[in-house]
Amino acid sequence: MADNRALISEEDMGVDEDGEDVFLPTKMEEEQHKVSFTEKFSNKKSKRCIWFIVLGFGAAIFIILLGVAIAVTVEFTILKKDAQPPRDFNATTSAPATSVPQSTSKTTSTPSVSQATSQATAVTPTPSSMEWWKTTIIYQIYPRSYQDSDGDGNGDLVGIINRVGYVNSLGVKTIWLSPVFKSPQRDNGYDISNYTDIDPLFGNLADLTMLLNELHSKGMHLLLDFVPNHTSDEHPWFVESRQSMSSSKRDWYVWADGRNNGSSPPNNWIAVFGGSAWTKCNITGQYYLHQFSEFQPDLNYSNREVVLAIENVLQFWLNRGVDGFRIDAVAHLLEDPQLRDEPINPNHGQDCGTGCYDYLIHSYTRNYMGIHDVIRGWRKVLDCYPGDRFMVGEAYESVSTIMMYYGQDLDEFNFPFNFFLLTNNNWTGINVDNIVKKWLTNMPPGGWPNWVLGNHDNHRIASKAPQYLARALNVLLLTLPGTPTTYYGEEIMMTNVDVPDSQRQDLYGDRDKERTPMQWTSGPQAGFTNNSNPWLPIADNYTMVNVQVETNDKTSMLTLYRALAGLRTMPAFTNSGYTTVMNSTEVLAYVRQSGGSGQNFMVVVNFSVNHVTVDLSSAVGFPSSVQIYLSTTNHTGSVTLSQVSLDAGEALVFHSSIL
Ligand code: GLC
Ligand code: MG
Repeated sequence: MADNRALISEEDMGVDEDGEDVFLPTKMEEEQHKVSFTEKFSNKKSKRCIWFIVLGFGAAIFIILLGVAIAVTVEFTILKKDAQPPRDFNATTSAPATSVPQSTSKTTSTPSVSQATSQATAVTPTPSSMEWWKTTIIYQIYPRSYQDSDGDGNGDLVGIINRVGYVNSLGVKTIWLSPVFKSPQRDNGYDISNYTDIDPLFGNLADLTMLLNELHSKGMHLLLDFVPNHTSDEHPWFVESRQSMSSSKRDWYVWADGRNNGSSPPNNWIAVFGGSAWTKCNITGQYYLHQFSEFQPDLNYSNREVVLAIENVLQFWLNRGVDGFRIDAVAHLLEDPQLRDEPINPNHGQDCGTGCYDYLIHSYTRNYMGIHDVIRGWRKVLDCYPGDRFMVGEAYESVSTIMMYYGQDLDEFNFPFNFFLLTNNNWTGINVDNIVKKWLTNMPPGGWPNWVLGNHDNHRIASKAPQYLARALNVLLLTLPGTPTTYYGEEIMMTNVDVPDSQRQDLYGDRDKERTPMQWTSGPQAGFTNNSNPWLPIADNYTMVNVQVETNDKTSMLTLYRALAGLRTMPAFTNSGYTTVMNSTEVLAYVRQSGGSGQNFMVVVNFSVNHVTVDLSSAVGFPSSVQIYLSTTNHTGSVTLSQVSLDAGEALVFHSSIL
């Protein structure tokens, strides 16, 4: 491997000896405060993509020759700021022209939760000039578990197409699909054997095109899951690489001689899934690196051919009209070229032995500086496409390290996932306020925040957090400043399922629990499949917890979710402001302000199991008596701010004036 990788020291990472974050990335701040994000971004983008403009001009002149009337129309479409990305060339039906999702009026888009909700028609909706990824909710679909269309017990793309209407009805405008690419499914699609084809389990490329067309026709967006760190061991690149030391693809992966005459691995590195990160290949006797399972060999990003091959894959999907990517395991892209042993973690748990990932401090296998060059390369690829193409990165890191993935010049991810709510297990008002401020104050200037409660790698929030809080946590997710990501089923409060060993699918963790089929109806297999043997069992609670039942129930989580999604279209929820009114052990109260319009909202959450009464009259810009706009319980009407009563785990949203 080339020597172009710089190691980030523990100190530079802003981590003290306890692994806590101790400072902000101040250099980044100093460099960035002079120019606004919008200015900087648009300058960069225009420089990089001059050829696009030149092409655009050429096209315009040509069109003018054809007729002024047509030219005016087409030019408007090309130059319009919110123009959608080009559609798939192989589209069977042409997608209607779309624009950035427009907010719909409160009366039609939001089912009534309380009297106050239905009174909210006067509120001005979100400005349509904002980038779509700032105003959207991202909805993660685990494709194998969403909807089966062909009766094989596995969810598939056609099933998802049939459910786009439902997703849209939630007020969600963006779907992120966990991997649907060709894969032996050793790690449920995160082991890809062909980056540019769809696995027959899910359908084919034409189905993906249909899904894109369906989404775009509704002003919705599609994010694909992109897994650049490793391929499947069945990928033709690896099959060729392992053949011989002189294979043309040898250096596309990380190969090294073992120690002790080849009888032990090249160093002490441990895979995320446990055990040595090296596996010996008998063809050559060398070892290959895999930061996850042995079926997922790591690509070598110090090889320029690999960098370009992966950029080509991004282009393949962008050319087909995909709006962006969720990018997997980005902290693992590069490792120490000298393959030095990693130090033992003095804080590893008692039951974490030598094969356990936390046994070592991963100073040589995580967050190498060179990774940022690779990501900047992807940003350049995305920025050369019309429309706002988007990427979000997955990395579970300390706050100062994660912030680096916005990029020194905000030229990497639109945002890295913020997992601090997802990993939280201390639900108090004061702690949640700290978590929120930790992100907002450490974020580089011009950065955009985001929030996540669950995903396919972590137990469901409704099972992890106290049950009585589950609704309030969705209120939190959807009212904090920035883009929320909802894991499918959170909107109906799906819970973990204990999957018997005989039906186990996940080879590397206890993640089947949160991956079980979507609960649509009270009918057989919860309406997920007509096969009596779905790939994972359906939750026992499905007859009560499902879309059908909750749609007809005004007090359900689903009804509340739709109301919250409607609430997010108000200007107060589309900026990044957040002002704490109260942060005690029991209660967190914060204000979201809309600037000039005076349409301010206050969100209050009671994290405790007790009924509490709090005085919130110190909130600036609110009269002494306010209307309840929305509640997780059945509270409606007006409330005196000096005496706000909340039930256990209740969340309330107030508006500053009577609407
Ligand atoms: C990411 C995925 C996880 C997968 C791993 C290896 O963390 O979210 O599901 O197992 O990467 O690709
Ligand atoms: Mg199927």
